[in-house]
Amino acid sequence: MIHVGMTEAYRVLGSDDLAELHDHRRDFAYDVLVGLSEKPKQLSSRYFYDDEGSRLFQEIMESPEYYLTGAEREILEGHAAEILRRSTGEPFDLVDLGAGDGAKTCVLLEHLLEAGADVRYVPIDISEGAMGSLADSLLTRLPGLSMHGLVSEYVDGVHWLSAHAAQRPKLVLFLGSNIGNFNAGQARAFLRRLWSSLAEGDRVLVGFDLKKDIDRLLGAYNDARGVTARFNVNLLARINRELGANFELEKFRHFSSYDVFSGAMESYLVSLEEQRVFVEAVGQEFHFEAWEPVHTEYSYKYLPSDIRSLAADTGFVIEEDFHDAKRDFVDSLWRVERAVR
Ligand code: AVJ
Repeated sequence: MIHVGMTEAYRVLGSDDLAELHDHRRDFAYDVLVGLSEKPKQLSSRYFYDDEGSRLFQEIMESPEYYLTGAEREILEGHAAEILRRSTGEPFDLVDLGAGDGAKTCVLLEHLLEAGADVRYVPIDISEGAMGSLADSLLTRLPGLSMHGLVSEYVDGVHWLSAHAAQRPKLVLFLGSNIGNFNAGQARAFLRRLWSSLAEGDRVLVGFDLKKDIDRLLGAYNDARGVTARFNVNLLARINRELGANFELEKFRHFSSYDVFSGAMESYLVSLEEQRVFVEAVGQEFHFEAWEPVHTEYSYKYLPSDIRSLAADTGFVIEEDFHDAKRDFVDSLWRVERAVR
């Protein structure tokens, strides 16, 4: 059971919490070894979010080109009552996957506390730094809040919660287009696993970035101040820090492009010259040719029809869609439906 008092607003899931919990550094080293041995080379965007990466992502969210954050904030501010209406009659858990700094969720929490709802806030985030600042800022702004955060990967956190925490109805937030990092198959697998750890009638609110004018997409991932570039390059800096590598950061450049057909904004790090990089944790040197790309991220954009089939394929019923005025973004409210149809 998570026990959390005023002094401990979150816990870090450790090896005694989950038998199947992985050794993160070893996973990271293994994924780097495999990814840099492949052709084309690739690294997974899941490794962006160390404390520095989470901080840089917050800076991205403040950049004028990154419309996603403002659009979703507009949705949550404009529709908090409707989004929460179905959940507030009873005690419930508000689970926040990839909570980050929780700025957007704060809008919902304020509304809930004002309405006197019996809510327990359960943010789940992989970065302990982000979780620490989330706890500080939320408990200062909302002193009455019952917060029980988990520092872990999404799925580990949800499984742990369904196995150990008192069973209360849940509204699971998966906001900010975090789902965009998954391709179609991964998104289905993830949502189906989430579905299987939830109960009939539980809800999820999923934030999707919609397909739109291509220049705006390109701008959002190529901001003028170069924050996205630093965010991308931080992945190499993290490999240096955690796996003892010797990447020279100025010998790589950030590049993002859009594939209209798959709907993916894709990010790369391109090697500016021929070079060799040694990664101590895997005891191996990797060769980069001049202009050789390393794929680092997919951010999938959705059509409304894609969202409908994703919900139907994974066992959810769409209750309501909430858009911003420009229809750049949608927060789609789904309910777990276990009956065989
Ligand atoms: C946090 C995954 C939603 O894909 O838009 C921002 C991460 N990458 N700029 C996104 C990101 C480059 C972001 N998500």
